[in-house]
Amino acid sequence: MFIVIEGVDGSGKGTQIRLLEKALNEMGKKVFITCEPTSGEYGVKIRKILSGEEKSDSCELAALFLADRIYHCQNESSGIKRMLDLGYTVLCDRYYYSSFAYQGLGTSLEWVLGMNLDCPAVLKPDLTVFLDLPAAECDRRIEEGRSSREIFEKLETIKAIRGKYLEVFERIPDHNVKIIDASGSPEMVSKRIIEAVKESIPL
Ligand code: TYD
Repeated sequence: MFIVIEGVDGSGKGTQIRLLEKALNEMGKKVFITCEPTSGEYGVKIRKILSGEEKSDSCELAALFLADRIYHCQNESSGIKRMLDLGYTVLCDRYYYSSFAYQGLGTSLEWVLGMNLDCPAVLKPDLTVFLDLPAAECDRRIEEGRSSREIFEKLETIKAIRGKYLEVFERIPDHNVKIIDASGSPEMVSKRIIEAVKESIPL
């Protein structure tokens, strides 16, 4: 089974992926955790662009995310397709919904949707869990770890990205997306996720 975890910054994806791995292991599943951008050639270039070390056009960045995703699905050492064939449950931290939300905001959503969904090398997830939290709460969680930041600017960005995710989920109703309330303790959120996983997938 191929499960994607999505959410804006501060939504708690990292913690929740580890808790879900533990729960799946306890159910006797072999779990492979992976993320985007990958550590492959395109992923390394993407990280340089995201950090500001390299400049890029926003359409070029969207295309690089797609190239990274094709590599992520298809590479023969530990690509998603190979790991699924080996019987692993694959948990992926961010996938094409991140492109829809982030690059959909900066370029053309139609174009980003089309090139990802129509690409034969890009696998369709069996389940996507979206960790949903009001933007202000994400902002507060991010802020906890930092001393100074342009709060207003950041908050506006988080709001816009969350809005784009929700818009996209309505536009692709044939995708199995569960929107999970990510407020409360990590254990409470994890329970909600495990329930959604059990509902969606014959474990
Ligand atoms: P990362 O440091 O991994 O952040 P996080 O812990 O929030 O996942 O950085 C990934 C960044 O890349 C994040 O800001 C979202 C962005 N991104 C896109 O813009 N498009 C994409 O298709 C993907 C996969 C990620």
